[in-house]
This record gives sequence, structure tokens and C-alpha cells, in this order.
Amino acid sequence: MTTEKIAAANSRQVRAWNGDVGAHWAAHHGRFDRMLGGLNDTLFEAAAIGAGDRVLDIGCGAGGTTRVAARRAAHGHAVGVDISAPLLDVARARTAADGIPNAAYELADAQVHAFPAAAYDVAISRGGVMFFADHAAAFENIGRALRPGGRLVFVCPQPVEEAVETGETGETGETAHTGETGEASEESRALALFGRLLEEEAGPGEQPSADALATRAAMASLSAPDRIHEALAAYKDVTVTPVSIEAVWGETPQDTVDFMLSRTPGRAVAPEARAALEDVFRPYATESGVRMRAGVWLVTAVRPS
Ligand SMILES: C[S@@+](CC[C@H](N)C(=O)[O-])C[C@H]1O[C@@H](n2cnc3c(N)ncnc32)[C@H](O)[C@@H]1O
Repeated sequence: MTTEKIAAANSRQVRAWNGDVGAHWAAHHGRFDRMLGGLNDTLFEAAAIGAGDRVLDIGCGAGGTTRVAARRAAHGHAVGVDISAPLLDVARARTAADGIPNAAYELADAQVHAFPAAAYDVAISRGGVMFFADHAAAFENIGRALRPGGRLVFVCPQPVEEAVETGETGETGETAHTGETGEASEESRALALFGRLLEEEAGPGEQPSADALATRAAMASLSAPDRIHEALAAYKDVTVTPVSIEAVWGETPQDTVDFMLSRTPGRAVAPEARAALEDVFRPYATESGVRMRAGVWLVTAVRPS
């Protein structure tokens, strides 16, 4: 399968995840895996993968969760599906290096791919299900891959608050995620502030590509619980639970700023502007990295029999 062949249903996302966005995630796969690692306990506790289970990992990226799933399904197997060729290259290399025999990967769009029918006991996703053009169609398609009574478990970001302090998003395109109380999470407040400061203090520079901005916008597509329920109309026993997790963005504030700037190729800032940018992350600096609390939804559902 080639990326040209899978581009029909979600062409912009296919382009982004095989272009600058995918290249950045592939180059920084270890950082992203650590950043999202705070979701693993929540995801895997709910997925309750048994030793004989057949697991489908939707939007598996570099396969961090596919490998965890394969280890848990020691007598079964895990298949990661993703539209990003560069991320699947990393996933395959990491899986071979770790010597995990029962994990495999497929380049495919989960919204339309002809999965084998009823071939999986559980489908999981750590933030890989927000990018579909048609969520209901995608979840129906994934449902057909699950056996009757099979489980769907995923985590996705909580709502995006349009207005934080100045009511604007910054250059990075980030807005703020709200928690149960409606207050922006530490992570989204910091990212929104960083975006604003980058514009104000650092001045004009290279801007994120249109594909990168489209991807960041899509991240929020399932942030409203009503949308999630709507998208999962083909399932039963749907639960949507708020969970607060800690995301590790970097080793130090300096390292975090380097990482943030690396998301826009060619973006540089003058030394005098850097201090203000690093200050954004200083309140969250600990001996074990820059740690910020973020709100996500844990979603579970069952394919009707
Ligand atoms: C935010 S990343 C998460 C990656 C991975 N789940 C992790 O936790 O590291 C989203 C992933 O979803 C993938 N993706 C986006 N749209 C997809 C689709 N229609 N079918 C399959 N994967 C998709 C992207 O290529 C990307 O790897």
C-alpha cells in the first residue's frame, strides 16, 4: 500500500502525516512517546487486554502503544494501523529492535480500510482517532473489525477554550484545553501563552504550514462529549470520562523551547526573546522534566452483538 492509494478520504491529513508533521513526529518519536506516556495507565487499565487478545491500535504512530499491547497479548497479537509512512518506519524499527514478534503494522486509513471482519477483540487508540473527515463512518468501519462484544477504548483531548486571557490563539495555533471545571489545563495555558509570546516578543518569522495548522485543529475535533457520543452511534455502553494526566514536554525549559521551535522548520528567535519563552515553562520544571497537567477524555464502547 502506498500513501497515494490511501489519500482519498483524508487527503489533507495523509499529506500532513507524510509531510512536515509526520517528519517532526518521527524525528522526535521518543519525546512524543514520553509526553503521551502519562496516558498509558488510563488507556491500558480500561482496555484490559487479555493474554490471548487480538488488538487493533488505531493511528498507532511510532507504535509505542502497539508494543505495550503486544506484550500484554502475549498469546495473541497487536496490529498498528496508521496513514503515516515515516512513523510506521520508526514503529517497525523499534519493534524489531525490541524483539517483539507479535506486533505488526499496516499503512492504511482506518476510516475506510477493509479490515478483516470481526478479527479483533479490542481496538485502542492513544490520540489517533481525531483526524477523520467523517468520524461516524470511521468508527463504524472500526466496529466491523471488532468481534461482536469487542471493545473500543481511546483517549482524546478535552475541550478547547477559545479565549485564554487575551482571547486569542498564538502563532503556534494552540488554544487551551479546559478541564471539568472549565479552567484551562496547565498544558494548554502554557502552550497558548507560548504562542502569544512567540508573536509578540520574537516577532515575525517562519509560520507553521497549513498542513500543520490543520492537524492541530483536528486534534480538537472530538473534544465535545456530544460529538463523541454522536460519532459512536453504532456502539453500545459508551462512556466518556474526564481524566487529568501529566505530560512531560522536555528535560528543561530550554530544551522545551528548542522542541517547540523545532515544530516550525526555520523558526528562530533572538537570544533576548528566548528568556521570556523559557519562563513560560519554568513553573513546571522538575527534576524529572517539564511536567504539565492536561485534561483528556477516556472513552470506552462496545460493539453490539
Ligand atoms: C497524535 S498522533 C498519535 C500517535 C500514537 N497513537 C501515539 O500515541 O504516539 C496521531 C496519529 O494518527 C494517525 N492518523 C491520522 N489520521 C489517521 C487515519 N485516518 N487512519 C489511521 N491513522 C491516522 C497519524 O498519522 C498519527 O500517527
